[in-house]
Amino acid sequence: MNSEELARQLRVRVDQALERWLPPARTCPERLHTAIRYAVMGGGKRLRPLLAYASAAWLGLPPERVDAIAVALEIVHAYSLVHDDLPALDDDPLRRGRPSTHVAFGEAIAILVGDALQAHAYLVLATDSTLNASPVARCQLVRDLATASGSSGMAGGQAMDMEAAGRPVDAAQAEFICGLKTGRLLEAAILMPCRLRPGIEPQWLEAAQRFGRAYGLAFQLADDLRDMDAPAEVSGKAPGGDQRQGKATLLSLLGPQATRARVRTLQLEARDALASWGPEADLLRWLCATTLG
Ligand code: IPE
Ligand code: IPE
Ligand code: MG
Ligand code: MG
Ligand code: MG
Repeated sequence: MNSEELARQLRVRVDQALERWLPPARTCPERLHTAIRYAVMGGGKRLRPLLAYASAAWLGLPPERVDAIAVALEIVHAYSLVHDDLPALDDDPLRRGRPSTHVAFGEAIAILVGDALQAHAYLVLATDSTLNASPVARCQLVRDLATASGSSGMAGGQAMDMEAAGRPVDAAQAEFICGLKTGRLLEAAILMPCRLRPGIEPQWLEAAQRFGRAYGLAFQLADDLRDMDAPAEVSGKAPGGDQRQGKATLLSLLGPQATRARVRTLQLEARDALASWGPEADLLRWLCATTLG
């Protein structure tokens, strides 16, 4: 099966797992649960789950072992998008081609959707039986996700992204912000499946980290480029938001040509991290080749 078809099947797979794990819309409090489903189930590339499945394939683990990891990652990601779009942050009315959650349900519910989703991700990791992981491995997974999404990861990067808007920053600072707000969670998607192989040799962890670091940063730089030139019909988001908000991006500092060149360099770095592996790493390679355009 080629990687494109495999990715399509894995997207269906994670959607089914999300469907199982999310509270039914008709359970009290219905409006919150409806909004949660709206935020999570309404499209998206499912990139973090795909990376987790690709990492599992690389490690020789079957996809069912990482369903819970895929669900937890996508839930945290969906929460980050709901909060990212709020008027106090990016004030974006469009997400995944539909009104953002706060536009559809109001700000109070959107904030609570994020709160509830964050808690839900850890519930999944703590209790999912298909994960088939030791208590030590579960704790490690909780730690990975918390580190990637907390104040030293996504939330910290979001705070710095807000603070840096309209201020002078240099390229290293702009990249640091990207790495935190977006890179860490993408990196966690590759690293977390490694926790399911107790006693894993260090070269796997090093490769996971090298690939994840380079790819994660490249993905945010590519997102910044898309913000500039992709129409809403393609990206599902209102274009030009970063410029409107005076975001301190590498793109605003160095321009599109240099930013594209940096994406290519990081893409090669990510590929190089997997150079010692064979076809088992093909899905990771394919994701790296097709999602940074
Ligand atoms: C958007 O992420 C936000 C960033 C971290 C750049 P994605 O581009 O993965 O968004 P969805 O999940 O496909 O909507
Ligand atoms: C957001 O970066 C990263 C998150 C942690 C959600 P952006 O603000 O560039 O993401 P988009 O472009 O709104 O998806
Ligand atoms: Mg933002
Ligand atoms: Mg945004
Ligand atoms: Mg963006």
